[in-house]
Amino acid sequence: MAPAALLVLALSACGQNGDGDDEKTEGATIGIAMPTKSSERWIADGANVKKELEAKGYKVKLVFGEDDPDQQVSQIENLITQGVKALVIAAIDNKSLNNVVQQAADADVPVIAYDRLILGTKNVDYYASFDNERVGEMQGGYIVKKLGLEKGSTKGPFNIELFAGSNDDNNTRYFFRGAMKILQPYLDSKQLVVRSGQTELNRITTLRWDGATAQKRMEDILTSSYKSRKIDAILSPYDGISIGIISALKSDAYGSEAKPWPVITGQDAELASTKSIIAGEQTQTVYKDLRKLAKVTAGMVDAELKGKKPPINDTKSYDNRVKVVPAYLLQPVSVDRSNYEAVLVGGGWYKEDELK
Ligand code: GAL
Repeated sequence: MAPAALLVLALSACGQNGDGDDEKTEGATIGIAMPTKSSERWIADGANVKKELEAKGYKVKLVFGEDDPDQQVSQIENLITQGVKALVIAAIDNKSLNNVVQQAADADVPVIAYDRLILGTKNVDYYASFDNERVGEMQGGYIVKKLGLEKGSTKGPFNIELFAGSNDDNNTRYFFRGAMKILQPYLDSKQLVVRSGQTELNRITTLRWDGATAQKRMEDILTSSYKSRKIDAILSPYDGISIGIISALKSDAYGSEAKPWPVITGQDAELASTKSIIAGEQTQTVYKDLRKLAKVTAGMVDAELKGKKPPINDTKSYDNRVKVVPAYLLQPVSVDRSNYEAVLVGGGWYKEDELK
């Protein structure tokens, strides 16, 4: 295209006051599709993104799926029919949204993938999340440190079992990859041993991150591989899964003098799990400040609708198999009993009273 034509295009993309395409944003409604209300984090996510968008003058339609991919697709179809000007989507099943995001593109509605990347489509404009591989590194690293296995140590063997997230969530393999980067050398040296033998990602996933599913798997493993042994550590990618694991361990008399709690990781710093950490059951969680994620996301929507470029800090990590999606990745924080007050209470995420 000739430079002059480009200039005309650029100018016509701006509003008359030179402050972006205000016509497109004035009173515009944004659709937010969250995956479920069964976990408190997504309720907080929905509320936070709504608040940030409203603060920028947008109207918001917020919907929650019930962890049912078909329901999420029809909810998003409805949002498009209702004329939303942009979509923020936290996918339930990362591969089930291709048709509906094509419908969004046909209606000129940009799509921001919220925390979970949407795969196999060109119709996702930006991705807002945390450094998901780093989350896994923090979980694996915490186990190594807690067991005293850091460099040069000959301690062990320790028994460990591995849990992963939902196989239809793109984050699952990032968390697992990050954790295994740290844990694999110790599995190789046999300082860590997985007695169940279940180490492949496709054998350890937990559909829809469901705590009851994880509980059942933990019970089966305790019965089959730990009759006369103790388990020392459990890699869990998410607090809701850790809760299921802890229930199974409780039924098997863990948390007693004879069977102390193993090291148990988690993610999201959900209220029940933070209390569990304070009580000495779960050991660690990875906290992600969802208020920051909401700000980044609202900024992406606003910039996109005004024809501007939002801040991006990663252009290589998130290949959705059709394109590398430009991303803004925030930093997670490892939290245990020693720093929950400073991070979670000091950071204003929880009030001291809520944790009692
Ligand atoms: C992931 C998310 C985690 C956790 C999990 C289960 O996509 O990154 O923080 O919330 O879903 O909800």
